[in-house]
Amino acid sequence: MTIDKIRRDYKRASLNKKDADLSPFKHFAKWIDEAIKADLIDATAMSISTSENNKPSSRMVLLKGYDESGFSFYTNYESKKGKEISANPNVALLFYWAELERQIRIEGRIEKLSEKENDEYFQSRPIESQISTWVSLQSSIVKNRKFLEDRYNESAKKFGKKVPRPKYWGGYKVIPNLFEFWQGRDSRLHDRIQYSKKNKKWIIERLAP
Ligand SMILES: Cc1cc2nc3c(=O)[nH]c(=O)nc-3n(C[C@H](O)[C@H](O)[C@H](O)COP(=O)(O)O)c2cc1C
Repeated sequence: MTIDKIRRDYKRASLNKKDADLSPFKHFAKWIDEAIKADLIDATAMSISTSENNKPSSRMVLLKGYDESGFSFYTNYESKKGKEISANPNVALLFYWAELERQIRIEGRIEKLSEKENDEYFQSRPIESQISTWVSLQSSIVKNRKFLEDRYNESAKKFGKKVPRPKYWGGYKVIPNLFEFWQGRDSRLHDRIQYSKKNKKWIIERLAP
């Protein structure tokens, strides 16, 4: 079979404006809880798209917290994404749970988390992950895998059991101004409910599939 022949029907659920919570954060909480309870692999993984000079790039990260103030994740501030975020704080997030036939798009502005939040989360990570943050500068070119393994072993020896957080490692929070909840439906008549922020209020509208 060639890939253009691959297709499936979406029949699991529906989404109507009347089912949509007035708060997009509450609707998000409901959907991500259902994805986690369904035991989906990497249910908390999301794509984040950033762009510098009108050249977008995307990659997956893990959502590490959310509330009405935004959605947070951790990374290297000097990575490709970190540099693009410094140049342009407008970003887009994307969640997709194939088994639930659901997608959530989020757009907004991004801010760095505080040093305190960064330190607290860094110290809660397994020591191997803490050591890894010292091994190399994320997104830089490395000559081979041995370089990474040697640097890992050197860092593990140097720090012992107490690994400090490098200043270039920390979190970001995305503060949304747009959400879209997509539920796959029959005959490609998918349900799309959008929340856009106008004058501090969330406007709920249905979009054409
Ligand atoms: C499921 C999954 C989860 C990931 N989680 C993170 C994460 O939380 N933080 C991170 O910096 N990179 C994470 N990565 C790696 C990134 O996708 C990416 O390779 C890395 O951050 C470098 O991206 P950049 O060069 O665009 O900055 C994850 C990758 C996958 C596939």
